[in-house]
Amino acid sequence: MPTTLPALADRLIRGRRATRAFLPDPLPRETLEAVFTLAGAAPSNSNAQPWQVEVVSGAAKDRLASALVAAHAAGHRSVDFPYSHDVYSPTHLRRRAEAGAALYGALGIGREAEARRAEYDERSLRFYEAPHVALLFAPDSGDPRLTADVGMYAQTLLLAMEAHGVASCPQALLSFYADVVRETLGVTGGKLLFGVAFGHADPTAPVNAITVGRAPLDETTRFHR
Ligand SMILES: Cc1cc2nc3c(=O)[nH]c(=O)nc-3n(C[C@H](O)[C@H](O)[C@H](O)COP(=O)(O)O)c2cc1C
Repeated sequence: MPTTLPALADRLIRGRRATRAFLPDPLPRETLEAVFTLAGAAPSNSNAQPWQVEVVSGAAKDRLASALVAAHAAGHRSVDFPYSHDVYSPTHLRRRAEAGAALYGALGIGREAEARRAEYDERSLRFYEAPHVALLFAPDSGDPRLTADVGMYAQTLLLAMEAHGVASCPQALLSFYADVVRETLGVTGGKLLFGVAFGHADPTAPVNAITVGRAPLDETTRFHR
């Protein structure tokens, strides 16, 4: 384990990866409380902390997964933040394609393998068998600044989890069934941004071994003097 703060930060930030196969064992209550307390230290515009977080485990998680799978099978989608491929530039699309190829390659799913993809979708809607899932809601206004604050919270949460030895996967997929999530959990307000499946990673799953690269610094960042 590194001992300097920069080296620890490097380990923490680069050590976090999207995990897509979990062991079913639930985390201790103290770990859940420690991780979500630490995530609450995230910064936000004017310190408004405009996130609402629903943490779902046990039988409630199984009920939610079943409701999501049923909605998916019935084609009942409902999104709070509309999604379109058109938001991506050609550069974004190239990066997405590279990440997609790594993922589907590790899963052994080719372009035509519809049945295998459907099976994978169902596994995703069951949170990859993770023992817990957190649903992150932004305020009803959907204001971009407040929604960005929820993004700040989310990354802080993922890093808090990593620091506590907890693996995670942010899942935008869950936001395509926002009404189902609200109804099942009895949530009355807020817009569902995405979910985070979390627990202990299955170390034997090939899908957990993939790494995706990042754009070189000069592709995203300019230094002005
Ligand atoms: C907001 C957000 C939503 C995501 N949604 C999904 C998802 O629905 N399904 C999935 O497999 N991965 C999802 N991911 C994981 C990304 O694919 C992953 O973070 C990216 O490829 C970089 O890989 P890494 O997290 O392992 O570094 C999501 C990530 C973020 C930040």
